Parts: sequence; structure tokens; C-alpha cells
Amino acid sequence: MHIDKLSIQELQEQLTTLQAQYHKLGESGLALDLTRGKPCAEQVALADELDGILQGNYLAADGTDTRNYGGLDGLPEARALFGEVLGLPAEETMVGGNSSLTMMYQVVEFALTEGLRGPESAWGNSDAVKFICPVPGYDRHFAICEHLGIEMLNVPMLDSGPDMDAVEALLKEDSSIKGIWCVPRFSNPTGCVYSDQTVERIARLPDLAGEDFLVMWDNAYAVHTLREQAAALASISEYCRAHNTMDNVFQFGSTSKISFAGAGVAFLGSSRKNLAALGKHLGNQSIGPDKVNQLRHVRFLKDSDHLAAHMAKHAALIRPRFDSVLDTLDRELSGTGMGSWTRPLGGYFISFDTLPGLAGEVVKLAGAIGVKLTPAGATFPYGKDPNDSNIRLAPTFATEQAVKDAVAAFVVCVRLATVQQRLR
Ligand SMILES: Cc1ncc(COP(=O)(O)O)c(C=O)c1O
Repeated sequence: MHIDKLSIQELQEQLTTLQAQYHKLGESGLALDLTRGKPCAEQVALADELDGILQGNYLAADGTDTRNYGGLDGLPEARALFGEVLGLPAEETMVGGNSSLTMMYQVVEFALTEGLRGPESAWGNSDAVKFICPVPGYDRHFAICEHLGIEMLNVPMLDSGPDMDAVEALLKEDSSIKGIWCVPRFSNPTGCVYSDQTVERIARLPDLAGEDFLVMWDNAYAVHTLREQAAALASISEYCRAHNTMDNVFQFGSTSKISFAGAGVAFLGSSRKNLAALGKHLGNQSIGPDKVNQLRHVRFLKDSDHLAAHMAKHAALIRPRFDSVLDTLDRELSGTGMGSWTRPLGGYFISFDTLPGLAGEVVKLAGAIGVKLTPAGATFPYGKDPNDSNIRLAPTFATEQAVKDAVAAFVVCVRLATVQQRLR
């Protein structure tokens, strides 16, 4: 029954039942964790073939000995393969080390402190530097901004991607906004795929924002489809070429959730002009990336067909965990008015919204009975969710049974917090 329809007496009866369920769960000694947006052990094992795959053949297609220094832009065959993931030619793709997040940090820091077009263009020359952050979003993007002193402005994330009316309105009134964070396919945490219209409007933002504006297009889940009906993502580079804004977009990706998390290969794509400027900058930090690992990945993943087949194996492993969360939420909370949640067709997360003011309480209640949830607020800049309602659920890492048990307990916490709030 919908919470709004319950009388005080019915609420009190529910409270008694829920308190009993909660105490029973507390006594059962749970030790569960839904915080970890990591692949599970079976997923990483799908790439175990990487170990030893070179069989002593360290030469790249052009004869480069990958065991030696050099090749800052990455191996040509790795640039071609991962360029395809980003929808870019090899010449507009750079393949780096093990973390795309590192590459994002390097790009933002470079634009801020040194300037993509020389010292005059450094964002840091201005008194204030701001970024638009669609919310809920990825905490580590926000951490980069916070660490570098970039002020963050929230805009709502819709099913079609960032609320573009809000984005454009902000840009019209504030010239200190220098960038926007985007996770365009299976966004973290809502799982939405940006609509074609949104992608085109983002590609046109530099017209409003100015030539030093950067779109940080973090396509971390580009190939992480869970269900066949998932929408494809429009190519931002096609729109950028049409609107002459290729210099304003950096695209990112990695194999962290394709092969080994933290031991994969990261890549970025942008205009040749940007890659040349960034390459020069990165040359001061490194002689080149781990080309042996790049070659291992090329030999393992081969081409986009093999990559797709490999990702289908990932999906088969984690789909039951997502189903388990969704089945429980549907069964226990549908029609109760106690929360809403997303039904992602790919990616790593389910985003849950409690009624306003309850996310922190639910996380606390769950923690007290041994169910660890991502801290409330983590999906917002500065850790502050103005509605205190968003909770990111990460079902991939725990075993299927643990996910099932954790969500069953989570639901009790949501119900308990909601009924308690109503009776206050
Ligand atoms: C949106 C997004 N971008 C980037 C990353 C991290 O990528 P990497 O391992 O390549 O640094 C994650 C990891 O959870 C993510 O969710």
C-alpha cells in the first residue's frame, strides 16, 4: 500500500513489524557490502589469458620492441583498437597507462595550470574556474575538481542525460564555467544513455561557453551492455566535426572493467591539435606508457567483434545480480511511494532515491546491521546531496547470494526509515 494512504494506526503497526524484522537482521550477523563498483572475481578471471599471452613475442606490428622505452602516444595497433571503442581514428587516440582517471586529471590540470593553447589560455588566469556537474554523478570526477580548486555547479541528470536547458542557462550567465563532466553511456550511477539530441547539444556548448571550454566525455562504460535493448550512443565526434568543436572534447575510456581493474589499459581521444599539446606536456612526466601491457591487450581483445563477445561474458555474469536487486525492489517497494530506482541496461550501478531527507538515515540503519552502502551524498559534489535522497547501489562485486541478502536488508531499512519519518 502507498505510504500516503496509511493511517497513523497502520503506520504504527508497520513500525512494530519493521522494527522486529530489523532487530532480527541485526542479530543474524550480516557482513555485506554494496559499495564496490568493481568487477567480481569471475569477471576479472575472464581475462586471465592475458598472463603469458605474448609467449615471448614482444614485437608490435611495426617492429617496435615493446620492452623498451618510448611511444608516448601508445602502440599503433592499440590506438586503432581503442580508437574504435571511442569512435575515433587511431591518429586521434592516445593510449596510456592503467587508469583513465589519471588521464582525466592530467587533462584538467594541464588546461588549468598551463593552458591547452599556451600560458595565455590557462583557466587558472581567471579568478574563478567552474565546472558543470550533472548529478547524481561520479564522486572521483568531483574529487578532481575539489582537489584542483575548481568550483562545481550541479545540474540535474535526466533520463536523456544532463538537463541541457539548465546547462545552457548556466553557461549564458557565467563565463567562468570551463567544463562539464559527462558519463554518456550507462552513466554512473543512474545508468542513463545520453539521447542523440543531448549529445548534439553538448557538442555545440562551446558556441555558448567559449573556445577554452572542455567537455570531459568519460565513456567508461562504452561497451558495458547488460541487455540487448540498450540504446547505442550517438557519436559526439561526428557532431563535433559538424559544429567545428573537436578541440573542445576529450573522450576517455579504459579496460578496467573489460580486463583487469587497475591493471588494464586507459585511452583518450581528441583533436590532433589537442593530442599534440597534451603529448608535449606528458613528455615531461613520462618517457612512455607500458607498451607490453598494451600489446597483451591487443593480442587478447583482437578487434571490436572479439571485444563485444568478451563483454557478453561479463554481462552474463553480472546480469543475475542486477536482476536480483531489481526483483527485490519491485516486489517490496513498487507502489509504496517509499523510493524510486533506475533500471539500467548497462554499466555498474543502480541509483536509488529515498524520500527527501532519508538517504543518510537509510545508510546508517543498514550499516548498523552489517550492510555497507555507499555514503549518502557521495554522488554529489562536495559530498552534499541537497535532498539527502540518493544512494548508489553497486551489485557487481558481491556474490549473487550476498547481493540478494543485502538488498533484502536494504529494503527493510528503507521502509523503516520512511515509516519512522512519517510518524515524527
Ligand atoms: C565513470 C567512471 N570513470 C572512470 C572510472 C575509473 O576508470 P579507470 O580505472 O580507468 O581509472 C570509473 C570507475 O568506477 C567510473 O565509474
